[in-house]
Amino acid sequence: MQETQVKENSENLEIEIPEGLDLVQIRKDFPILDSEIEGKKLIYLDNGATTHKPIQTIERMKEFMLKENGTVRRGLYSLSANSTKLFDEARHTVKEFINADSDNEIIFTRGTTESINLVAQSFSEAFINEGDAILISAIEHHANIVPWQIQAEKRKAKLLVIPVLDSGELDIEEFHKLIKTPNLKILAVNHVANSLGTVNPVKEMIQAAHAEGVKVLLDGAQSAPHMKVDIQDFDTDFFTFSGHKVFGPTGIGVLYGKAELLKAMPPYQSGGEMIEKVTFEKTTYAEAPHKFEPGTPAIAEAIGLAESIRYIEKIGLDKIEAYEQELLKYATAKISEIPSIKIIGEAKNKASLISFTSDIAEAFDIGTLINEYGVAIRVGHHCAQPVMQRFNVSSTARASFAFYNTKEDIDAFIEALKKVLEMLG
Ligand code: ALA
Repeated sequence: MQETQVKENSENLEIEIPEGLDLVQIRKDFPILDSEIEGKKLIYLDNGATTHKPIQTIERMKEFMLKENGTVRRGLYSLSANSTKLFDEARHTVKEFINADSDNEIIFTRGTTESINLVAQSFSEAFINEGDAILISAIEHHANIVPWQIQAEKRKAKLLVIPVLDSGELDIEEFHKLIKTPNLKILAVNHVANSLGTVNPVKEMIQAAHAEGVKVLLDGAQSAPHMKVDIQDFDTDFFTFSGHKVFGPTGIGVLYGKAELLKAMPPYQSGGEMIEKVTFEKTTYAEAPHKFEPGTPAIAEAIGLAESIRYIEKIGLDKIEAYEQELLKYATAKISEIPSIKIIGEAKNKASLISFTSDIAEAFDIGTLINEYGVAIRVGHHCAQPVMQRFNVSSTARASFAFYNTKEDIDAFIEALKKVLEMLG
């Protein structure tokens, strides 16, 4: 009786498209989405891994490389002066995007992984000593585990882990106990978990950390593409995200850090541009952000990232979030009707991704066979092996949605999934 009810509901389920979200235009801006890959129409549902780039970003980078290419902060000639201006403007665009206080708090890195490594090494060098503690969570990806593990070992500090409940939500009661650990120096936690989709209650967590004098690094790799991030509202000490997950280029990422912390932290890497004065006897360093940006930066990529940010801001993150929640609701209802499927991660507050297993097929086989229908999903441990261990699975299949996905994409995915399971069952 109940099953029939669910079926009927899902058949009638519609996706509400927020007013002003022009899906027809959006699909035109991402030509790859309606292309064929090896003769099959692409159904792209691996946005948690990387996103596609709008034509505006591609054109902007092309124009820069064709007509404006020049180094930054090194040349007095016009090309270099213009590149420097564009690069500085890109930094300002990022600052506005996350509502940071100052452009100087925005450091360009190669991506979230490098941003976290920078903080882990440099913050630990400045602030973590023997007997101190570092707190992470049980639902981090490897980039927010391993750098801290290395530092904990090196500095004889303790690495503590906030447990996760069966729902995929962090055990917040336990968190409130752990945050009072003596000599705890930093909490490093994701805003959205890449393997489960859980949106963590980060404002509450940051407030609790600050009440104990603990600094916070918020990994925004999976949140920045899907929801508005307001640094001043969150009051986080560090925030990270990747260009390629916010519809921008690879090879560029962002680290936001509070000015006073960046000032106290030593350089992460060294070389040109991060110095003030070099002699063979002694070197003094530039102020942030340059202190953390040695060498020639990723100039075209920074300009491309700024263009992508302008693109998503024009659509509006409020509309993006609302629409993606519709996609999530629809896909969850559809996939829940398939008897052998189990969703891993059922937090009340979830970003637009579904991790799942099947009791009749391995995730790896699902991923391989579903590709035959043009459907691109990620399978494996999602660079989050401890999450897999916690949920007693070796891997999951993960469909992750972006604002350019449609109801038709989800229908095609569900149809293909059913066929694949029939084959494997
Ligand atoms: N980029 C990794 C993912 O796919 C961590 O979630």
